[in-house]
Amino acid sequence: MSQSRKLYIKTYGCQMNVYDSERMAEALGGQGYTQTDTPDDADMIVLNTCHIREKAAEKVYSELGRFRQLKADKPDLKIGVAGCVAQAEGEEIMRRQPLVDLVVGPQSYHRLPALEARARAGEKALDTDFPEEAKFDDLPARPKATRGPTAFLTVQEGCDKFCAFCVVPYTRGAEVSRPAARVLDEARGLVERGVREITLLGQNVNAYHGHDGGLAGLVLDLSAIDGLERIRYTTSHPNDMDDALIAAHGEIGKLMPYLHLPVQAGSDRVLKAMNRKHTAESYLHLIERIRAARPDILLSGDFIVGFPGETEEDFQATLDLVAEVEYGQCYSFKYSPRPGTPAAEKAHVDEATKDDRLQRLQALLKSQQHAVQDRMVGREVGVLFEKAGREPGQMVGKSEYLHSVFVDAPNARVGDLVPVTVTASAPNSLAGRLRAAA
Ligand code: 5AD
Ligand code: SF4
Repeated sequence: MSQSRKLYIKTYGCQMNVYDSERMAEALGGQGYTQTDTPDDADMIVLNTCHIREKAAEKVYSELGRFRQLKADKPDLKIGVAGCVAQAEGEEIMRRQPLVDLVVGPQSYHRLPALEARARAGEKALDTDFPEEAKFDDLPARPKATRGPTAFLTVQEGCDKFCAFCVVPYTRGAEVSRPAARVLDEARGLVERGVREITLLGQNVNAYHGHDGGLAGLVLDLSAIDGLERIRYTTSHPNDMDDALIAAHGEIGKLMPYLHLPVQAGSDRVLKAMNRKHTAESYLHLIERIRAARPDILLSGDFIVGFPGETEEDFQATLDLVAEVEYGQCYSFKYSPRPGTPAAEKAHVDEATKDDRLQRLQALLKSQQHAVQDRMVGREVGVLFEKAGREPGQMVGKSEYLHSVFVDAPNARVGDLVPVTVTASAPNSLAGRLRAAA
């Protein structure tokens, strides 16, 4: 019987890392670890890192530095780095930060128990392979404990698109899809444990090919699971939005009317330099088709400003595209050169110009978000309660459109999915009241 130890995992970056952290914690559960929410009483600390932009990696190094005293007080404390920074800079991390005992890349999490044992034995353990065996099949079965009403479920990993700015194809590797049967099993298990909403995850989730019918086929099979009320998926590439998936948005009631469909920029010249393999016009046409299938769908996107060579005219084309689409919610970033990616070699736009463009874009995106939210007032939505709100008797959950909605509902429980009338729009959330029972 292994002794009881405490594990602290800190997760950076995307939802895929959130899912991976859960699976890592479960894998280390077999080594006697239970999770703690502070590093102070941990026997093992794992930072699950993100490499998508510069600051993400720098945060990791400064966080590691903060563990120096903890490790001095408790020499048995083991410190691990997982995720995309581990994959990209594993050996450098070991060199630059001697506090680190263990480095594990995203494709090797099933080997974590063995790596932990080596670290415990005093070795420096590093694994950044892209192994042949399927990681998810080799991870331990998921535990049976009940859990909250929403869950992530990774169905696809890696990316073959090679956008010129992006590290993902290098850190997560080539596209791999999990077989539909495994995904369905895992989904049924989650629903048995209380989950009512599942978000399917993949770096390029709509390129999923673990089902003959692609992602649409998987969503249709999932929709047959009793007790599973809502299905979402993220993140998608415009070129992989096939006819079946577009149609699914009109046909499968459990598929939520929300789509994160990054375009990155609105100028065809920049899109070409980014190696996006689509144009602004083809994207706009796609949006038209999606809206024809599901008119109320809420669209979300990602944007990069100041990509190498972006002129004021190019940037204006991004603003024009945004104005035409009308997004409900977006993420926008200044271009950040990533070592090893093609764009990093190009002449960069100066920082002040990037700042100015980001500010202008964000002002437009924010005004769109508010307009879309304001139009929700008076409408009826379903809200799946995720937790208690700050006020007594208040609950908070998500609508179909992924808006957070605060509702006065003293008799409700977490996991209830209830009809609500939206009464007000705040900067980043909505307020609503329970629709009176008939
Ligand atoms: N610089 C800035 N933003 C980036 N993204 C990806 N790589 C970079 C980079 N080098 C953004 C893209 C992507 C999101 C997850 O992060 O918009 O869609
Ligand atoms: Fe990166 Fe997404 Fe482009 Fe793949 S499709 S390279 S994950 S931005």
